[in-house]
Amino acid sequence: MGLGIGIFLLLLVLATIFATKSLKDRKAKKMREYFFKQNRGLLLQQLVDKDIAERMIFSLEELENATNKFDKARILGGGGHGTVYKGILSDQHVVAIKMSKLVIQREIEGFINEVAILSQINHRNVVKLFGCCLETEVPLLVYEFIPNGTLYAHLHVDGPASLPWKDRLRIAFEVASSLAYLHSSASISIVHRDIKTSNILLDDCLTAKISDFGASRGITIAESGVITAVQGTYGYIDPEYFYTRRLTEKNDVYSYGVMLVELLTRKKPTIDMSLDGVSLVAHFVQLLSEDRLSEILDAQVTEEGEEEAKQVAAIAALCVQMKGNDRPTMRHVEMRLQGIQSSNNFRAILEYKGCKSD
Ligand SMILES: *[C@@H]1O[C@H](CO)[C@@H](O)[C@H](O)[C@H]1NC(C)=O
Ligand SMILES: *[C@@H]1O[C@H](CO)[C@@H](O)[C@H](O)[C@H]1NC(C)=O
Repeated sequence: MGLGIGIFLLLLVLATIFATKSLKDRKAKKMREYFFKQNRGLLLQQLVDKDIAERMIFSLEELENATNKFDKARILGGGGHGTVYKGILSDQHVVAIKMSKLVIQREIEGFINEVAILSQINHRNVVKLFGCCLETEVPLLVYEFIPNGTLYAHLHVDGPASLPWKDRLRIAFEVASSLAYLHSSASISIVHRDIKTSNILLDDCLTAKISDFGASRGITIAESGVITAVQGTYGYIDPEYFYTRRLTEKNDVYSYGVMLVELLTRKKPTIDMSLDGVSLVAHFVQLLSEDRLSEILDAQVTEEGEEEAKQVAAIAALCVQMKGNDRPTMRHVEMRLQGIQSSNNFRAILEYKGCKSD
C-alpha cells in the first residue's frame, strides 16, 4: 500500500515536471513565433528588396548551435548597448553575433535599421552583415568576424609600441573612402552618425572596417538638413549638429576630423585637455594655428612621418571647422589622402608582407 502511494506520488511529480517543461517549451516557441512575425514586419517595411530580407534570416537554433548556446566563454566584448559573441556557423564561417542587453523600442528600431542599411552596402571597408535572427525580442545581428579588434584599442595602449604611422595613414584613407561611398554612391546618402575609433574594426591585415550602423540614417538630397534627434558620442559629435539637429553628411566629416586628430596625437577626444573644458580638437587647432603642432603630435608619428603628418593635420583642421558648409566633402578628403599616400610607397611594403585582405 505504502509502496503504491509512493510510486503514485513519484509518477505525479514526474508528470508535473514533464507538463511544466512542455508548457514552457510551448510558451517559448510561441514567443519566438510572435517576435519573428513582429520583427519581420518591421524589417520588410524598411527594405526595398524583399528577397534580400528572406535570404538574411537565421534561426535562433542555428545561432545557439554556433555559439554553444551563447556560452560566456564566447563573449568577444560588450559595450553599453549589448554583448558580442563569437560563433562558428555550420558552414564553418566565423561570425560575430551582436545581442542587445536592453529591450526598448528604440533599440529594436536601431537593429532593424542596421539590417536595412547594411543589406544595401557592399564595400571592402564596411563590415559585412550576413544576416539577422528575428526570433528574439530584439533581433540578433550576424556579421563577418573581424579578428583584430578596434582602432581605439590599437591606439590607446600603454607605452610606445603602437600602430605604425603608415598603417594609420592607410586606415585614415580607407575610412575616408568608405564614408565617401556611403555619402554619395547610392541614390540615398547614408550618414553614419557615430564615427569614432571604437567603431572602426581592423582585420588580420589591419584593414579598416566601419561598423555599428545602428544610428545611421539614409537621407535623400531633398531631406538634407532634416531635423532629427541627436545621435553620437561626446568628443566626436559635430557641435553644429548638436545645436541645430540638422542632419547632413558634414556631421560625419566633423567626426572623421576628430578621428584624424586622434590618429595624429594618440589622445582620447572623449577626455578634455584641461579642467576648464578645452577639448582635444580645440587645443589641436589652436596649436596648429600657432605652428606648434609638434607639441601635441604622437612622438612615434613625428619620428616616422612628420611631413605627411603636417599635411594630414591640415586636413583634420578643415574637417573640424564649426560651419558644416566650410568643411570638405569626404570625396575631397579621400583624394587628398590618396595624394599623400602615393607619394609614399607603403602599399608595396604591405604587399611584400604577404598581407592582402579580399
Ligand atoms: C543544431 O545542432 C543539433 C545537434 O547537433 C542538430 O541536430 C540541429 O540540426 C542543429 N540545428 C541547426 C539549425 O543547425
Ligand atoms: C593584429 O594584426 C597584427 C599585424 O598584422 C598581427 O601581428 C597580430 O597578430 C594581429 N592580432 C590579432 C589578435 O589578430
